[in-house]
Amino acid sequence: MRSTSVDAARLPRLPSEFLWGASTAAYQIEGAADEDGRGTSIWDSFTRRPGTVRDGHTGDVACDHYHRFDEDVSLMRRLGLDAYRFSISWPRILPSGAGKVEPRGLDFYDRLVDALLDAGIEPTPTLFHWDLPQALEDEGGWLNRATADRFAAYAAVAAERLGDRVKRWITLNEPFVHMSLGYSLGVHAPGRTLMLGALPVAHHQLLGHGLATAALRAAVPDARVLIANNCTPVRLRSDARSDEDSAAATAYDALHNRLFNDPILLGSYPDLSHYDMTDPSWGGVVREGDLDTISAPLDGLGVNYYNPTWVTAPTDPAAGLPFDLTEPQEPYQRTTCDWPVVPDGLTELLTGLKSRYGKALPPVWITENGCAQPIGSHDQARIEYLAGHIDAVARAVARGVDVRGYFTWSLLDNFEWAEGYHQRFGLVEVDFATQLRTPRASFEWYRSLIAHQRS
Ligand code: FCB
Repeated sequence: MRSTSVDAARLPRLPSEFLWGASTAAYQIEGAADEDGRGTSIWDSFTRRPGTVRDGHTGDVACDHYHRFDEDVSLMRRLGLDAYRFSISWPRILPSGAGKVEPRGLDFYDRLVDALLDAGIEPTPTLFHWDLPQALEDEGGWLNRATADRFAAYAAVAAERLGDRVKRWITLNEPFVHMSLGYSLGVHAPGRTLMLGALPVAHHQLLGHGLATAALRAAVPDARVLIANNCTPVRLRSDARSDEDSAAATAYDALHNRLFNDPILLGSYPDLSHYDMTDPSWGGVVREGDLDTISAPLDGLGVNYYNPTWVTAPTDPAAGLPFDLTEPQEPYQRTTCDWPVVPDGLTELLTGLKSRYGKALPPVWITENGCAQPIGSHDQARIEYLAGHIDAVARAVARGVDVRGYFTWSLLDNFEWAEGYHQRFGLVEVDFATQLRTPRASFEWYRSLIAHQRS
């Protein structure tokens, strides 16, 4: 792998209209869990179940962003961000998921949007970043087709209130991760362990995406709509290159990447026969017209990238999955999540999307990319991570991929799901005892990168 200069001034220049951003999500930063009529979400319930989250941490207070958003917007202004990706908490706006609207919840996002616009930062909300109202979980969550309709109704409420000022919308965050960790493996809320029985969650989320896209466009005719998909290049170890290994890679790619990109970009599902899924209606889950709804043309594809995935043929085919996940042989650097640092995987991913989808690929925004590093470190590893991955984006752009922006994960240290407050992804360190925010060296680095790219 080639080495990348971490000198921000020496990184390749992205196109002048390229958008520089940072991302967060409601449950991970807002806190104020019981305030202003907010309903219960599946993460409130899940974090209360013993043994679900490291050290029993919850998002009850998190970064207290609900009360400190002005300070956080000032930090963003100092960074020089063009855009800020945050998520709207569905249960703050519709405490029971549907029906009665809570105006105080909408007021909060109204104030946030105005503060961002005053700072010259484009608000880019995501409508669903995993915090489903518990009342909808009680009716089956995303296993229930009706949740897709509820999601579109919620999208309309948010768009009617904010759409005069918010023009770029993201429907779902990482439907693959929500399905697999939330419904297949039970590592995330709602904590179900259905394995492949979770597949209807994929379809219902995608249907929700399609219905919400139509609702957003009806309320905001000039809305630009994206989805943020978690994508991974699928790799084989160099000592595992049999036909069976290749078949395993194809099967994993279908589940992680194509299941969520093909229906949106091509209007069809990939071959799922490795999962004993040969009925095109998935036993009645996929209904006539659904794929037309799901494949309404998008204004952009959001790509969240953290690392490639290595697979081999399954050692125990009776276990029910057509692949095993494995570790690379290469001694990659690791983040504190133990995720390998592989910047060239991002170039591979982006050029791979272009060759797979061709003209059907809309412009791409990197909607998440970043790393957890030890608290109190000099932050050099985070700077190297960012430099390497931004350079990887520039290489994809040089090869003709239309990438329009980069949102780093994350602005602030925050509640990292099952890891609680143990993983530190922020450009800004947060002391969760005092709520003191301290910009890290990577904050200064990102600020100088943005300034340099604009100069
Ligand atoms: C992504 C999530 C985001 C954050 C990062 C580290 O999968 O979308 O909320 O947890 O991982």
